[in-house]
Amino acid sequence: MEEVRIKVRINGPYRIQGPIILEDADGNEFVLPGEIIALCRCGGSKNKPFCDGSHREISFQAETRAK
Ligand code: FES
Repeated sequence: MEEVRIKVRINGPYRIQGPIILEDADGNEFVLPGEIIALCRCGGSKNKPFCDGSHREISFQAETRAK
């Protein structure tokens, strides 16, 4: 099984790399552009669940760190 890696970007999205399937609440699959996607965590994207860069416009601040 291939490893899926999720990276928390500083003041930005979750960057996900790997062979993933992303479903909506009804179980329908999103069409993904490849094996690297970015999911919005700022709430500002106009293309949820994907990041569209809006986190920069709203100056999203979240420096989540693993400890
Ligand atoms: S994290 Fe990029 S638009 Fe929300």
